[in-house]
Amino acid sequence: MPEPKSEPVPPKGVDLTRPSVARVYDFYLGGTANWAIDREFGERVIEKFPLVRNIALANRLFLNRVVRHLTRRGVRQFLDIGAGVPTAGSTHQVADEVAPDTRVVYVDNEPVAVAHGELLLDKEGDPARHAVIHADLRDPDGLWRDAVATGILDPDEPVALLLIAVLHVFQPGPDGTDMSQQALARYRELLPPGSYLAISHVTEEDIPPEPRAGLAGLKRMYDTSSSSKAIWRTKAEIGGMFGDFALIDPGMVWTPQWHPEETGPNARPITFDTPSHAVIWAGVGRKAT
Ligand SMILES: C[S@@+](CC[C@H](N)C(=O)[O-])C[C@H]1O[C@@H](n2cnc3c(N)ncnc32)[C@H](O)[C@@H]1O
Repeated sequence: MPEPKSEPVPPKGVDLTRPSVARVYDFYLGGTANWAIDREFGERVIEKFPLVRNIALANRLFLNRVVRHLTRRGVRQFLDIGAGVPTAGSTHQVADEVAPDTRVVYVDNEPVAVAHGELLLDKEGDPARHAVIHADLRDPDGLWRDAVATGILDPDEPVALLLIAVLHVFQPGPDGTDMSQQALARYRELLPPGSYLAISHVTEEDIPPEPRAGLAGLKRMYDTSSSSKAIWRTKAEIGGMFGDFALIDPGMVWTPQWHPEETGPNARPITFDTPSHAVIWAGVGRKAT
């Protein structure tokens, strides 16, 4: 009999009673920071909706292109909220390829994502320029205070706030309703002039029938069995998250359409029948100076 594969010991505070959004996403991306409960759930999702893996990879490549593009535009500070489990092509790695003086603070509320972030930064990070903190996006003032307290972000200089594939995770407030818009309004106030806001978010609007059916099934599974429910929004609702920030070119598009020329040389090409099969609507806005 082959020995059963042993599982890594989870960091303290990890809930292994339900699949976690962060760990299942890590499984889609081919990572190792996931446990049997996450893999079983992820496999069931993939069986019903095989496109989900490429959707996750295309989203990740969007993140990489945003970081490359903004670093080239002169941004030297990133606040990556809902950063997830670090995997190849994390924000600091991509930024360092363009400008090795870039500073990055990662934030997540999932202990596995934070623990893996710490391990990675211990190995290859620069404590003067990189940090990971455990905080919740629903508390903008507390999160901002903690991020600035790392000493890594200068609150008087422009910051690129990344909210990549996190706002379609339902964010219940004290009254049980989603409080993403309220939190976003506060982040837009807190960000210094000249800052950027990058958002990617699932929508069901204008997508073909096959991914539409897949998304409906995926939402049912997350809503009933995972650590967090899902919330899909219209394109107008996602665009509204930028408030009065001005969208930079090319505006809001499907993830593969955002600055494809910024794709790194080692990126595995992801192809979809149409860009809308990527189901994630994405863009970057800038606060006036
Ligand atoms: C789908 S993953 C996206 C990871 C990464 N941003 C990317 O696009 O590759 C969503 C992440 O958001 C995190 N998250 C969800 N709600 C959060 C909250 N309220 N505060 C902080 N992180 C949160 C989850 O733990 C997970 O790591």
